[in-house]
Amino acid sequence: MNIKIAPSILSADFSVMGETIKKLERSGADLIHCDVMDGSFVEPITFGGQMIKNIRPLTSLPLDAHLMIEHPKTQVKFFADAGADIITVHYKACKKISDSYLEETLKMIKSYGVKCGAVVNPDVPVENIFPVFPLCDMVLLMSVYPGYGGQKFIPEVMQKIEKAREYARFIGRPDMDIEIDGGVTLDNAAAIRAAGANVLVAGSAVFNAPDTTAAISALKK
Ligand code: DX5
Ligand code: ZN
Repeated sequence: MNIKIAPSILSADFSVMGETIKKLERSGADLIHCDVMDGSFVEPITFGGQMIKNIRPLTSLPLDAHLMIEHPKTQVKFFADAGADIITVHYKACKKISDSYLEETLKMIKSYGVKCGAVVNPDVPVENIFPVFPLCDMVLLMSVYPGYGGQKFIPEVMQKIEKAREYARFIGRPDMDIEIDGGVTLDNAAAIRAAGANVLVAGSAVFNAPDTTAAISALKK
């Protein structure tokens, strides 16, 4: 499978974001992972659609907007208009509102011509999002509790990756993008890929590395 590395700009220096985006593209990144936090679904606040809009002209890489926010439907339009290529929304944030909110949000994202994905936290069984797999371009399994970069990978998530890949095969989507977010390192990347994930988000592993190109290529191999 084609392995893609999605550096998370949460770990970047926001004062030089433009240069950073260009450097990530030169260094072999496959997507730019944009962590959107609202101070409510998760404690910190990061940025909104304006960041996506500003970095959009700087790269041809897909912008992967990971919305860690309450009421995601209210923000879809802004991220779609700003130029996000994929928007992912949390099962937990949607479930709080209603049983059908996740499906409605995914359909809304698609109605803007943007790819969509559902996200589960480490304590949510991946089976909970099986009903929306057919709608999703990607599923995102959190391997840390969302909110902060630099946390340790939760090993129990490995079995969820296997289950997700198995279910993707079962529904006739063997190549579906399965993204892992949190605590990805050079030490665990091979096991994560072997379990069936093909999109690896990496914050610290890319931004703390002395050589960005070498780090991205090591995560891929
Ligand atoms: C956590 C974010 C992650 C985070 C990953 O809430 O969704 O994308 O930036 O950072 P690392 O790779 O350092 O765990
Ligand atoms: Zn993320």
